[in-house]
This record gives sequence, structure tokens and C-alpha cells, in this order.
Amino acid sequence: MTEMISNVNDLGNVLIRSDLNVPIINGNITDDYRIYKSMEILDKIMDNSKTITFSSHLGRPKKKGLDFTLEPVAKRMSEILNKKVNFIDELYGKKVKESLQSADYKINLIENLRFDEGEVNNSDEFAKNVTNPFDSYIFDAFGASHRNHSSVVSFGKYLNSYQGPLMGKEIEQLDKLLSNEKNGYVVLLGGAKISDKLNLIENLLPKVEHLLIGGGMCFTFYKSMGYEIGKSLLEDSFISEANKLLNSEHGHKIILPTDFGVTELIESQSREDLNIEHFNNKHIGIDIGPNTVSLFSDYLLSSKNIFWNGPMGIFEIDNFSKGTREITRIIAKSSAYTCIGGGDSVSAVNKFSNLKYFNHISTGGGASLEYLEGKKLPGVNIYNSLII
Ligand code: 3PG
Repeated sequence: MTEMISNVNDLGNVLIRSDLNVPIINGNITDDYRIYKSMEILDKIMDNSKTITFSSHLGRPKKKGLDFTLEPVAKRMSEILNKKVNFIDELYGKKVKESLQSADYKINLIENLRFDEGEVNNSDEFAKNVTNPFDSYIFDAFGASHRNHSSVVSFGKYLNSYQGPLMGKEIEQLDKLLSNEKNGYVVLLGGAKISDKLNLIENLLPKVEHLLIGGGMCFTFYKSMGYEIGKSLLEDSFISEANKLLNSEHGHKIILPTDFGVTELIESQSREDLNIEHFNNKHIGIDIGPNTVSLFSDYLLSSKNIFWNGPMGIFEIDNFSKGTREITRIIAKSSAYTCIGGGDSVSAVNKFSNLKYFNHISTGGGASLEYLEGKKLPGVNIYNSLII
């Protein structure tokens, strides 16, 4: 689905939904990859629009609060673009309308969409209010396209709406991985919580050659097999589900770490490497160990396609980062088609390697995984592509 826009100012006052959900610690943005990627659209529409207003969610705020304001993102956008970006601390109303009329502001960013519960509840009323002063809408937030939220599926009902260029690129690259499926692919999953990824693992298992699992979530698997896991991360209520997966038809494709970096106190940052059989009740697993790095390396280097989401441990702490660092470097040098998804994995690549050694760095975490599962995502291909 494509649509040509030819006349200058065709888009008028355009509202863009991007995924500017970036990690912010003490007001500092620790990874700005999503902001960079979201700004790429400007080359295409700068001359075809009167004003350009970005919108996004940030985090999962329970209520409006400073911790989740998009203001630091507006500042970073200005630095990246070397242009003034006007931050509007509301979602709809007088300030938005005035900014669209002011000759001083070409680029705006409105406040966190999730400050209004209408966003997550997919409210039509909210969609009408936010879109009201605009002429056109571009959905370019691949990272949020798996959410059935108002800005994803309802804003577009009230304006001329298009799918943005980042969406197009993401889909093209992930389709490449899916069309390579016949040559087989390995998925490497990390991260803390198994609860977030249970369905995904179940749906991916029949499709992949192997599913390598690192990060905190592997301890729920080990617990389900009766191992001592000490004080490592555990999601009690998912033990039996984890066990079911291991014993399912494709359960043999799940490859778990055999050894781990462990500590007794995270703050001490001390570490020793131990096989899972040697854990005692004080141990906390904080990384994969060296034997697991070489085990995973064998699987990764013999595959033609690799998808990686989620770190192998607490890679923000130097002494706990070896596993994630080694894995990043192994994937970087592999000759496979390599695709990375998810904010933490992108930060790891930025920290330990270079984005240029990977075929595709997706701005989507959950979204890219759900797309690979074969799910129809609410925000994918619902609008014509914007081509200028
Ligand atoms: C992400 O970080 O994966 C996206 O921005 C979606 O965020 P969400 O999981 O809070 O919907």
C-alpha cells in the first residue's frame, strides 16, 4: 500500500506517532537510538508540511508524573537536529493550538500520550481530542505497533493517515528474516522476566532451529527442573508453565546456560563463575558464564540467521557484563543475517561493538518478537505508506 504526496504543504499541520520511549536515568537519556531513527522522517516531510508535531509514549506511568515526562526527549531532539524543538506540556488544548499557529515553532513534541488513560484504553474521544487541530497523521512507531492503543489504531480514523518510512524499513527487514526461515534461524532471548515471553517462546519454538535463553528468566526454567537457584530471579507462578515448555514437542530446541556468573551481593560487584549444579542458597546469578558463551557461540556461528533480544545479565555493571559483551562480539562477527531488537540489546551493541556490524537494528522489542511470531500487529499495514 503506497500513496504519493506531491504538493508542497500537502500534509499541513502533521501529527506523527513515533516510539520515543528511551531509557532515562536521573533525567539523562542513556540510549538515543530510537530518537535518531524517529527523526529520519524529517528529511522527507520538512518541505511538505506547515508544522510537524511528534507524539509518543514514555514508560508505563500509572499517572501523570515528572518521571515520565517527554521533556528531556525534546531537548535531545533539538541537539540531534540542531533545530529548536518546542515541547508542549499537554496533549490537547490551548497550548497545542497556539503552537501550531506560531511562526516560531515548526517542530513540536507533545507530552507523554500515556498521561491520559484514553491512550491505553484506546478511547475514540481521546483520539478525537488529540487529532483535532491537525490535518494529517503519520504512524511511524514500529516499537508500539503491537499495542492496541488509541494512537496506534484510532488516531488515524480522524485524519488523512499514512504509514511512516521507519515502519516500512522495519517490516522489510523483519520480512527478510522470515523469508530466510527455510534456511533456519536461531533466536537468542535474554532479559529478566519469563512472564513477558512465555507465549512468545511457545509460538517461536516450532519455527526456530534453536532458542537460546540467557538472562534472569532462565532461573525459572532451572527451578522447574528442581535445581537450587539461590536468590536468583524467580517468577514462582510461572514454574509449571516453564516446565511444560521444556517438555513440549519442541522443548528440546530450548538451550539453557550451563554456567553463570554469580555473586552473593549485587552491590559488592564481586563475581565467580559456577556451573548451575554448584549453586547454593545464597547465590545470585548475574550473567552467563564462559562455558555458556562457547556453547551459545557454537549455535550462533552455525546458523544463517540470528535474532537477538535481551541482555545475558546485568550488563550495566562492568563485572557482570562479560557474557553480554562476548555474545555481542560473536554475533557482530558472524556471517549470518543478524537482527537485533529491543532497547537493552541495542544499548549493549552500542557499548560493546558497533551498530554497523549488524544487518538490522530494530527499534522494536516486543513488537519485533511478536512480528516474528507471525502475529498480525494492530499498527502494521493499516495505513498507506507515505512516499514523497
Ligand atoms: C518498547 O519499549 O518495547 C515499546 O516502546 C513499547 O513499550 P510498552 O511495552 O510499554 O508498550
